[in-house]
Amino acid sequence: MRLKRKKRDFTDNVLVPTHIGVIMDGNGRWAKKRLMPRKLGHKEGAKTFKKIALAGKSMGVKYMTFYAFSTENWKRPKDEVDAIMKLFEDYLDDVSSFEKENIRLIFIGDRSALSDVLQEKMKHAEEISRDFDSMTVILAVNYGGQSEICQSVRKIAKKVKNKELGIDEINEELIEDNLYTVGIPPVDLIIRPSGEMRLSNFLIWQSAYAEYYFTDILWPDFTEKDLKNAIETFSKRNRRFGGI
Ligand code: IPE
Ligand code: IPE
Ligand code: MG
Repeated sequence: MRLKRKKRDFTDNVLVPTHIGVIMDGNGRWAKKRLMPRKLGHKEGAKTFKKIALAGKSMGVKYMTFYAFSTENWKRPKDEVDAIMKLFEDYLDDVSSFEKENIRLIFIGDRSALSDVLQEKMKHAEEISRDFDSMTVILAVNYGGQSEICQSVRKIAKKVKNKELGIDEINEELIEDNLYTVGIPPVDLIIRPSGEMRLSNFLIWQSAYAEYYFTDILWPDFTEKDLKNAIETFSKRNRRFGGI
């Protein structure tokens, strides 16, 4: 009898990061290159989001945070912002594909500036997926790292004022416990496509010891192969966390 040799999985050879942060950048340029309106670039980018989240799950990534809209993105023309918000709504009407995959969905960012309909849909998606545990997808909407730290500090200051906390009790853990990402492990790898090499206010606290992977590919063109390349690159890095 011939023994079948076990096919080696991609993940047999690499160290898969627990938490990947993805800055979904380049939608506008992708559309411009095709002489299309920017909003079509965002539409294509939303498809890529879904594809890459599922690819991450199949590679064994446990947490993926996707930067979808920053606190600074309100500076854009109203029709572009409206189109992006509409895409979020449409997307949330179609969370069933994540449900089937047992994926938990969480939103981070300041929701108060978003429409009531969108806030309601976000809450619903979080509630129905609360116990799903194959992977957690975190969508950063109206998210800014600096504003996140500010709101954490405000919550703590209030407790100090009410004498529920002493000043000496303020430490890294307490600040973390008051971030949107409470309970979520720190970021291991940040992926930024589109050729830009900056964080743009994304997960600035949580990325303190993250590795970075930059590529010129525009987000709508980003494929499963690119995710594999990023993970392989990560796997070869020597993380020292201040040690030797
Ligand atoms: C990222 O793509 C999506 C959002 C910021 C909402 P961009 O819209 O920033 O695309 P470029 O950078 O202009 O190409
Ligand atoms: C970062 O992209 C925000 C998101 C991808 C949601 P931007 O396009 O807003 O970043 P900058 O302006 O180039 O730094
Ligand atoms: Mg951009």
